Amino acid sequence: MSNRVPISIQSVESILEENDVKIREIKASVDQYFEETGYRKRACIKTYGCQMNEHDSEKLDAMLMDMGYVMTEKMEDADLIVFNTCCVRENAELKVYGNLGRVKNLKKKNPNLILAVCGCMMQQPHVVEAIKHKYAYVDLVFGTHNLHHFPGLLSEAMHADKTVIEVWDTEGQVIEGLQVNRKKSLKGFVNIMYGCNNFCAYCIVPYTRGRERSRRPEDILEEVATMAAEGTKEIMLLGQNVNSYGKTLKPVIDFADLLERVSEVEGIERIRFMTSHPKDISQKLLELMASNDKICKSLHLPIQAGSNRILKNMNRHYTREQYLDIVDRARALMPDVGISTDIIVGFPGETEADFEETLDIIRRVNYDSAFTYLYSRRTGTPAATLPDQVPEAEKHARIDRLLKVLNPMINARMKSYKDTVFEVLVEGPSKNNPAILMGRTSQSHTVNFPGEASWIGETIQVKITRPKLFSLYGERI
Ligand code: SAH
Ligand code: SF4
Ligand code: F3S
Repeated sequence: MSNRVPISIQSVESILEENDVKIREIKASVDQYFEETGYRKRACIKTYGCQMNEHDSEKLDAMLMDMGYVMTEKMEDADLIVFNTCCVRENAELKVYGNLGRVKNLKKKNPNLILAVCGCMMQQPHVVEAIKHKYAYVDLVFGTHNLHHFPGLLSEAMHADKTVIEVWDTEGQVIEGLQVNRKKSLKGFVNIMYGCNNFCAYCIVPYTRGRERSRRPEDILEEVATMAAEGTKEIMLLGQNVNSYGKTLKPVIDFADLLERVSEVEGIERIRFMTSHPKDISQKLLELMASNDKICKSLHLPIQAGSNRILKNMNRHYTREQYLDIVDRARALMPDVGISTDIIVGFPGETEADFEETLDIIRRVNYDSAFTYLYSRRTGTPAATLPDQVPEAEKHARIDRLLKVLNPMINARMKSYKDTVFEVLVEGPSKNNPAILMGRTSQSHTVNFPGEASWIGETIQVKITRPKLFSLYGERI
């Protein structure tokens, strides 16, 4: 592994300067290639996992465009491929390994093809070992804490004859000033904090993303103001546990205070946030959500499991009763709030009775939507070594039963929205049918409706005429 100066003793200015030099160096060679051949090199980023990774990819995208690359969605067309990986569940990793195999074949056709892999998977030493031994054709490996070194590392990899690897196992200071190439300008992600301190027993994220660090409110507000000036109307504030924002800052500021300040930025019409950990949610936040028109009436509140015994073993620090109380308080303040969740089925030691309690929570809360996952054993987490791992077949049987309870409830909730009028920010053509438009309600439901391209960016009133299973169809009124 290369021994770079750890970030804590390298100033942010010098990192940004070093990046500029490397970016210009690579751009000169990409431009020269274009002049000689008439062909502009292409780069492709494949992103796996959560919004944190999507947002990191936007930063990589900005750097690659500055280097003179044209971006492509197709790996087959690319001269440089970056996999930004996720390891939250085993199937996320399997997808990456499958695609690494595909690139091996592409490299046979184009020996100059450069392959870089980064993101959460690379923070696990056993993965880096596997790449060194089984996927030695990878040119560059870097970790989540090394993203800001990408230009220098890429330049090194372009000249090296073996895999260049830089993975720090601890985070450094928060780096401000990296450019971002946002995919959708109408809506944008803003990181408010990095890392996670919660160590839920099943979860790999605290090991791949390091300790919790909050960005300074001034930096966040400046970024939001810049985005607003460029036409962004909806902001998604990102953090693994936004409710603990600011605890590491001086002067101390809490998430509700930050949210209020973001809502004061001129031009910002809607604000969303995720994820809200139930253990840290405050009444102050719920009251602010209720009283502030710019904050969307949408709460993603992962329950994970319905049994207190399992919640305790998961290290979640709340009980089912406390969770239900938050839901009641949120709905008392905001009768129209949309509540969504994450649920894990088959955590080690989950009995039939524990699982029934998860079903019971689903029945009681009546969610707007839910992401459901089979428990996936992650090496290095405390839950991986627990006895009583639930057999795969049992996990599958339980999730099938869970969906039989959940889906009809979500369907009934969607049907109840018939004839309701929602305020919708028009985002653009629908993905599945470009002839119609799509937008989202404050509660986060997707709405499709006929309309004209000129409406994109407007907030309009849409009356629901045809509720569908997971989306709504309506007409502008
Ligand atoms: N910080 C967020 C979650 C980030 S990970 C929070 O605390 O809510 C997103 C979701 O992946 C989690 O909510 C959890 O439901 C799921 N997840 C995480 N680790 C998992 C594992 N080992 N197996 C299955 N699902 C997992
Ligand atoms: Fe993982 Fe828990 Fe942190 Fe969420 S809060 S990222 S589930 S450890
Ligand atoms: Fe996100 Fe996956 Fe990493 S969920 S934080 S990309 S492990």
